[in-house]
Amino acid sequence: MKLTLSVIKADIGGFVGHSSVHKEVVEKVREIAEDGKDRGIIRDVSILVCGDDIALVMTHTKGIDSSDVHELAWNAFKEGTEVAKKMKMYGAGQDLLADAFSGNVKGMGPGVAEMEFEERKSEPVVIFFADKTSPSAWNLPLYEIFADPMNTAGLVIDPSMHNGFIFDVMDVYTGMGIQLKAPEELYDLLVFIGATSRYVIRCIYRKSDGEIAASASTQRLSLMAGRYVGKDDPVLIVRAQSGFPAVGEILEPFARPWLVEGWMRGSHTGPLMPVPFRNAKPTRFDGPPRVIAAGYQITDGYLIGPSDLFDDPAFDEARRECNNIADILRRQGIFEPHRLPPEEMEYTTLPKVLEKLKDRFKLVEVKK
Ligand code: 13P
Ligand code: 13P
Ligand code: MG
Ligand code: MG
Repeated sequence: MKLTLSVIKADIGGFVGHSSVHKEVVEKVREIAEDGKDRGIIRDVSILVCGDDIALVMTHTKGIDSSDVHELAWNAFKEGTEVAKKMKMYGAGQDLLADAFSGNVKGMGPGVAEMEFEERKSEPVVIFFADKTSPSAWNLPLYEIFADPMNTAGLVIDPSMHNGFIFDVMDVYTGMGIQLKAPEELYDLLVFIGATSRYVIRCIYRKSDGEIAASASTQRLSLMAGRYVGKDDPVLIVRAQSGFPAVGEILEPFARPWLVEGWMRGSHTGPLMPVPFRNAKPTRFDGPPRVIAAGYQITDGYLIGPSDLFDDPAFDEARRECNNIADILRRQGIFEPHRLPPEEMEYTTLPKVLEKLKDRFKLVEVKK
């Protein structure tokens, strides 16, 4: 029987500001999700927290886009929001853009990553969860994990991965998608996924048999809401071992920090810092952006875990480097390229300021 792994996440209120989540809010979300388990809607659930976001990691046999499972997550976030509102948590209900559930949480605010597969003899998975950034943050590590033999030795050494992978890429502005094969279409793939403000990787499949290897949340909150409500703070599921990259190959890109969009007011560039669960509390300038990695063994549909995979001193240098990069970028203050370019700022609160000043412009030089 096929098993579905669904990860659905939302920011339903921050403690304090946008830095973390109060435990009473998390407990309410857990209570509703556990009740869904008792009622047989899902087989198992595990709760993750990164910054001011909560993720429900759920297993079930209802397939992807199951309205029962999506409704359970929606209700858990709704009830959690009631607690957050009573406690006057910051931005209570921030990501719940609709009043009532209507079939699927996609498009209603929460981020969703799902995949369906036949459970293998041993089924290790890694779930990444980031705060203060957007889904395109996964483009670079997914490229390295599934297409770069300098990162993933298995692409060269393991015959079951040697054929490569298929990348499913989407334009977030039009919703149009394209599938590209690695390694043969690598340069075409990079044309798109290198443009992180526009293109995101939705899924990755193993080329030899079409088996699902990775699935990411691609929801862009500002595009759904038509205004800035907070950053998307994405999740990503990656299957590991036995014909997929090893856990260590999946974690390796995070040992070498790179820059992502997000951070303060969703308006800045900053390094993505890999942290253990206990340090997923972005406070410096509301950041720098954080990512946690939760490992699970899925056994008969049950989630054994999470194992806190970035709780390893081998990532200490990456964290230090992130702090150094943060110092350099903060020196730029409100100046680009620390501040995002104008096209990206259109989805923040800045256009309201521009609106006020637009009539003050006078022609001072005739341009050809
Ligand atoms: P507010 O304080 O107006 O909410 O703006 C800052 C912020 O945190 C944006 O989400
Ligand atoms: P979140 O997207 O995590 O709510 O952060 C919003 C923000 O504006 C932080 O400065
Ligand atoms: Mg928030
Ligand atoms: Mg957040």
